[in-house]
Amino acid sequence: MSRQSKALPSLVLFSLLLAGCDSSSNSKEKGSTQDDAFLLPSEAVNTPQALGYYLFNDPNLSLNRSQSCASCHNAKQAFIDTRPNPAKGAVSLGDDGVSLGQRNAPALTYAYLTPSFNLNSNAEAEGGFFHDGRAKTLQAQAGQPLLNPIEMNMPNKAAVIIRLQEKSFYTQSFKQIFGDEVFATTEQAYNALTSSLASWQSEESFASFDSKYDRWLAGSYQLTPAEERGKDIFYTPSLSSCINCHTLNRNLTAPKEMFTNYLYRNVGTPVNLTVQALTGVTTKDAGLNNGAFKTPTLRNVAVTGPYMHNGVFAELDTVLEFYNFRSRPNNSSNLINPETDKPWAETSFPEAIHSTELMMPALSKQDKQDLIAFLKSLTDQRYEHLIKQ
Ligand code: HEC
Ligand code: HEC
Repeated sequence: MSRQSKALPSLVLFSLLLAGCDSSSNSKEKGSTQDDAFLLPSEAVNTPQALGYYLFNDPNLSLNRSQSCASCHNAKQAFIDTRPNPAKGAVSLGDDGVSLGQRNAPALTYAYLTPSFNLNSNAEAEGGFFHDGRAKTLQAQAGQPLLNPIEMNMPNKAAVIIRLQEKSFYTQSFKQIFGDEVFATTEQAYNALTSSLASWQSEESFASFDSKYDRWLAGSYQLTPAEERGKDIFYTPSLSSCINCHTLNRNLTAPKEMFTNYLYRNVGTPVNLTVQALTGVTTKDAGLNNGAFKTPTLRNVAVTGPYMHNGVFAELDTVLEFYNFRSRPNNSSNLINPETDKPWAETSFPEAIHSTELMMPALSKQDKQDLIAFLKSLTDQRYEHLIKQ
């Protein structure tokens, strides 16, 4: 290519984004996103990663030019939705500023390490994207929010490509990276767009493996007594159920543990009555099937609440108390949700709960505190300052 252009090294791009340098550093308002005064560079970029970064942050790719991927996935907090909304972040507001979705925006750190949706050797569904695995790959995922009526709300792929072509930055960058013919068909251009978004989200900086836990494994950090006890509870099958679902290999010292087995499980998550009241939607959410949702990674979990596919719990302590309730079939203890002071709301597919894997002795108050200390130790170093004490 004759045109001289430089792509910023991707790590630099990532830290720019974390610093909010493009835009949000001068906006004081809590919850404001990178969208404010989003600016494209004057020179084209020549790597899909660099291009993906700009696409991810560009509100012009939504119908009302009000919302980008970054609106719901804030890099400063592991890419969750930090904007204030009537559902307290349990679910997200769409581009129209009023529509609320039904599901919680997940963290995107470590997401690219998720295997593509597949049936494993036990013919069980594994991996994939979204809480229900409906996108097979990260690239397939990236094509969906742009066209989702309660997200970025673009009418069709062609309309998205027209938006791109408004900016010479995009036409030039796309041609430079994908060839002069990239805009020959809508399908081709859309594939280039989604593959760029996936490439950027697959930068190694999205999975830094530098939490206290990783540092402990590497010998450069000493776990506190609480973190140590929490780790032991987590990894001891006679003390808790956690490793049945939240480890890849049940092995304490495995490096780069993902803290999920990527399988779909029904843990009997209660419906979110607040979201139901706000949206009027009471249809049962079956997830992949019968109320089974993808087991999420626990990396960065201390800074990525609210929790569960529907954001029904605000606090980790509530999640653990909920597991106490689910720990034995027909359990008649731990019946009260500490966040509502009422019994846990009903769950949509009670007959399909994976009760055997959930079985464990009840966690004491001390056990819960220690487990939370351990979960906090799974926070990437750059997000440690966000941990609530
Ligand atoms: C209106 C808020 C909103 C916008 C805008 C948005 N997302 Fe999301 N994102 C969500 C929600 C909510 C989910 C979970 C949805 C589900 O499971 O059905 C999600 C899920 C994801 C996932 C799946 C992660 C996993 O581990 O399964 C990825 C990746 C992702 N979004 C990337 C993007 C990209 C790329 C864009 C821009 C093209 C984008 N999102 C725009 C709210 C949003
Ligand atoms: C049977 C499998 C299973 C077991 C056992 C299990 N979990 Fe989970 N966990 C899940 C699934 C599936 C979800 C997501 C549920 C949903 O989205 O409704 C989840 C969600 C969570 C969340 C919320 C994460 C988020 O980002 O929303 C936390 C925290 C958590 N589990 C911690 C634990 C701990 C600690 C233990 C042990 C006490 C445990 N889990 C036992 C499968 C399991």
